[in-house]
Amino acid sequence: METTLAAENRDVSRATALAQIVVRCMECGRRYDGVTPRTACTECGGLLDVVVPLNRLTPDDLGQGLPEAARNSGVWRYWPLLPQLPGDAIVSRWEGNTALYRDDRLARFAGLQDGALRMKHEGQNPTGSFKDRGMTVGVSHAKAVGAKIIACASTGNTSASLASYAAAAGIPALVLVPATRISAGKIAQTIAYGAKVVQIDGDFDRALALLRELTAAYDVYLVNSVNPFRLEGQKTIMFELLEQLNWQAPDWIALPGGNLGNTSAFGKALAELHQVGLIDRIPRLAVIQAAGAAPFAHYFQSGFEEYEAVHADTVATAIKIGDPASTPRARRSIEVTQGWVTTVTDDEILEAKAVIDGVGIGCEPASAASLAGLKKLRAEGVILPEHTAVGLLTGNILKDTDAVTTYHFEDVNGAPRTAANRPLRVAAELSALEQALSDALHR
Ligand code: F0G
Repeated sequence: METTLAAENRDVSRATALAQIVVRCMECGRRYDGVTPRTACTECGGLLDVVVPLNRLTPDDLGQGLPEAARNSGVWRYWPLLPQLPGDAIVSRWEGNTALYRDDRLARFAGLQDGALRMKHEGQNPTGSFKDRGMTVGVSHAKAVGAKIIACASTGNTSASLASYAAAAGIPALVLVPATRISAGKIAQTIAYGAKVVQIDGDFDRALALLRELTAAYDVYLVNSVNPFRLEGQKTIMFELLEQLNWQAPDWIALPGGNLGNTSAFGKALAELHQVGLIDRIPRLAVIQAAGAAPFAHYFQSGFEEYEAVHADTVATAIKIGDPASTPRARRSIEVTQGWVTTVTDDEILEAKAVIDGVGIGCEPASAASLAGLKKLRAEGVILPEHTAVGLLTGNILKDTDAVTTYHFEDVNGAPRTAANRPLRVAAELSALEQALSDALHR
């Protein structure tokens, strides 16, 4: 048992560390410290950024000062560019350290040259999605401030991630999810890790709005991506990706856009890498939204003049979001990186997913928007034939097995899809296997 004196010392040292953290409103510039959790500026309601010192860095500087608890983390490895949370509050599950794959069949599918495309697989994180990168920072901050309960609204991945990290921290978790159109596997994970799950009769946008009312009125730590600490962890997808490319920036980085947390984090990360001298040019972000859930793409097409929330609908349930909470920050990311925003149809998403799955990499539907978007932008001439690109895969193939079986088992207009791969059910006899052998050889 910790003695009272030891607990007091710990609290004092945590409070000192938190008091030195700087959080700034992106609209009015008002500054706060890290002691009180905030998801909006109290002055003007603007979104907040954590400010990190941007002195010149070399790759060797990156691991400097790393707290012991964070040694195996692919997030905390970039300690000098992250909020300096007290080391004894860090909750890590060895997140990050994900693969950067090359498979030229994917490059050819997108219309790029051999060797010009890599895919970064964030589905290899501990709970199967990129959310763990932000969650280690968000939950560590929650622990440092002494949060009694942590909450999020989610389309399933954030909730699974929060449930796991809250369990690691020993802090209760509450999650709000839409009652329908959300993957059973993600809910199963969230329940199994022990979070309190509340299914609401409404979509993600409603769930988040409702939860923000709750957290405004009660002492509940909100860990959706409006939380600036979450985004600091998500920055490390860019840090790790550029490190894997020896700090040589590709022309494009394509990612799916839902609530736009990643878009926000990536723009910040790339600007910071450029400012500290680790990269000498900023790659362009290509944000890809599902056509049925594309308020940010429409906003982009209007030259960022007209924004309108939509009622979202798409097969990619992870990004079925009609009013992204991080829109202003995401706009800044597009401006800073001279980025692009476009849409892909559900059929294009499923086609790209079948290709990613079929080369043995695999991902959940929302992730495949990145490859589908690259293909579209190449076809439209936004991306040029000689350009290089990285596509982000945000979630593991097992996150949504219904999407897989629907694709392979259900007919479209009375016929299987071209890439459909249906199991054979045969009698348990050698003769019956001959047909199967021939089928397998000729697939
Ligand atoms: N891909 C996957 C697999 C996701 O789960 C999400 C978001 C996104 C892409 C979009 O990322 O919001 O940063 O633009 N899922 C959230 C959730 C909303 O609750 O799990 P974003």
